[in-house]
Amino acid sequence: MTGQTTRLAVYPGSFDPLTNGHVDIIERGTKLFDRIVVAILVNVEKAPLFTAEERVATVREVFRDQPCVEVDTFQGLLVDYARHRQANVIVRGLRAVSDFEYELQMALMNRRLTPEIETVFMMPAEPYTYVSSRLVKEVFSLGGSVEGLVPTSVEAQLRAKHRRLGV
Ligand code: PNS
Repeated sequence: MTGQTTRLAVYPGSFDPLTNGHVDIIERGTKLFDRIVVAILVNVEKAPLFTAEERVATVREVFRDQPCVEVDTFQGLLVDYARHRQANVIVRGLRAVSDFEYELQMALMNRRLTPEIETVFMMPAEPYTYVSSRLVKEVFSLGGSVEGLVPTSVEAQLRAKHRRLGV
């Protein structure tokens, strides 16, 4: 249709692992955008628990019935990736005031680099406002339950990973 553009959003992150907070934000994003690309950072400096391939497979499996959710990896500057994908929006989740300063810095730096791409913040449902991948990994590795905080497939992957690593 003339003048109509596809609203494509990029939702970037480490997703190491995917939490139910991420899932909640992606589901909210599908209501606002025609297509949402979950863009998993391949960070060679950080040592993630899950490989990029494992993280991609997890998100694909969780959203297998939602064709408007795409999963991809990226390296380098996020705005370069977003421009390459012709995305008009970067989505980020905002849980608490503690997230705000880092997110503000990133959003303003990204805007300085690429003014035509807008960052949109979304709040997850209240039960997920304290959930982070870092805490999930820590609690799980120390024997605590992460039930309800991550998709069941992620719980199984955490168990398998810890068995393999012998921790
Ligand atoms: O889930 P995270 O780890 O908080 O996500 C951070 C991420 C991936 C969004 C951020 O580190 C990023 O965009 N990295 C790519 C490199 C980049 O563009 N850096 C400048 C950001 S202003």
